[in-house]
Amino acid sequence: MSFETREAGQDLALAWRGVVETVYRNRPSDEPFEPAREGEKRYLTLLDGRPASACSVTRTTVARNDKDLSCGCVAVVATLPEHRRTGAASRLMTDVLGTMRDEGLAISALYAFREPFYRKFGYATCGWRWQIKCPAHRLPRIDGGLPVRQVSAKDSPSLDPVYTSFARARSGSFMRTEADWKDRLGKRPPSIYAFGEPAEAYLWVNLSDFWGEAVVGEVAWTSSRGHASVLTFLSGIAASQSTVTWCEPRDGLFVPHYLDQGISVALHRPTMFRLIDLPLSLAPFLGEEKGLVLRVSDQLAPWNQGLWRLGDSVERITEGDPDAEMGIDVLAQLVLGECSAWQLASVGLLKATSPAVVERLGRLFPQSSVVCMDFF
Ligand SMILES: CC(C)(COP(=O)(O)OP(=O)(O)OC[C@H]1O[C@@H](n2cnc3c(N)ncnc32)[C@H](O)[C@@H]1OP(=O)(O)O)[C@@H](O)C(=O)NCCC(=O)NCCS
Repeated sequence: MSFETREAGQDLALAWRGVVETVYRNRPSDEPFEPAREGEKRYLTLLDGRPASACSVTRTTVARNDKDLSCGCVAVVATLPEHRRTGAASRLMTDVLGTMRDEGLAISALYAFREPFYRKFGYATCGWRWQIKCPAHRLPRIDGGLPVRQVSAKDSPSLDPVYTSFARARSGSFMRTEADWKDRLGKRPPSIYAFGEPAEAYLWVNLSDFWGEAVVGEVAWTSSRGHASVLTFLSGIAASQSTVTWCEPRDGLFVPHYLDQGISVALHRPTMFRLIDLPLSLAPFLGEEKGLVLRVSDQLAPWNQGLWRLGDSVERITEGDPDAEMGIDVLAQLVLGECSAWQLASVGLLKATSPAVVERLGRLFPQSSVVCMDFF
């Protein structure tokens, strides 16, 4: 058996589409196929010359609080049923790591069908959203105080300052382009509302028929009165609904302030991140903490493996004793802010020579609320 992974350009476009449609639509179809998105590249792994596995990688910029990380978002990973468990998807994932590095990407993100599959390729769970399902009669009766107005889909980029400040206060979300806004809203844009002028919060919602579930597609806020005004609005639309469902990041305001009996809160859409290029992903963090030496293990991406000194740049060294040792997955959790250095050191996932080193790592990589607001 021989594998070969290639970018699915013109010559392989139909073969790529055949794999994705067979796996995701259960059959090849004549429907028009989605063209590649801005910044998207498609890959195909051939098994003995025949199409076996496919995926796409879309380039974006992810906010890690005030820092930017270039990111390859891996999606539609698929293997034709007749080629499953031959190692085709494993080969594709491994080859695509190298491709993303060649493209100059710092990190990669994906939504996993099952996390253990992607852990084998160095991805670590970082970030999720709380999905809140609130019976209509349990929505708090509060007055947030901000005026509400409807916003047309074409004006949705006007909400970008709220979104950007929401994303910058956290880690793991796209720095959205106009094309990202279009993708996020979909072909049939929902009803969008903004709170305050200038806006301090927004949401969009799909109202169901009477007495159904009103599903909020996205909500973001920059102030507690923005959040409270969202709740005021939701309790208004809940008058003719049985449930309202929306998502908030880990540091959302609803759970600590308004939780009540009968409201369910579930972990929703966890994301996984991987460091693709160690120096690129650590470069934005260089600052006061100069001189730390890390030993990082990464079997699948040997270019990340070894000793690194964090100085004015991230420098590979060949000799010396490390201050701390960890796997590439643990480093991803530090870089994204999913776990603190103390948390990881206390269970031995990060091995440090002294508590002072853990403290320094904690200052370099402060913990953050990690959430990806986009789907891909
Ligand atoms: C997930 C998928 C791409 C894996 O493709 P594949 O080519 O069969 O994967 P590999 O042969 O490289 O798999 C290697 C290992 O992955 C794991 N694995 C593969 N498919 C799995 C599945 N469906 N569930 C759990 N683990 C799985 C197994 O541990 C397997 O090792 P094993 O053969 O020793 O048991 C394929 O099952 C598929 O197309 N599924 C439907 C679409 C999908 O869910 N895509 C993922 C979207 S995030």
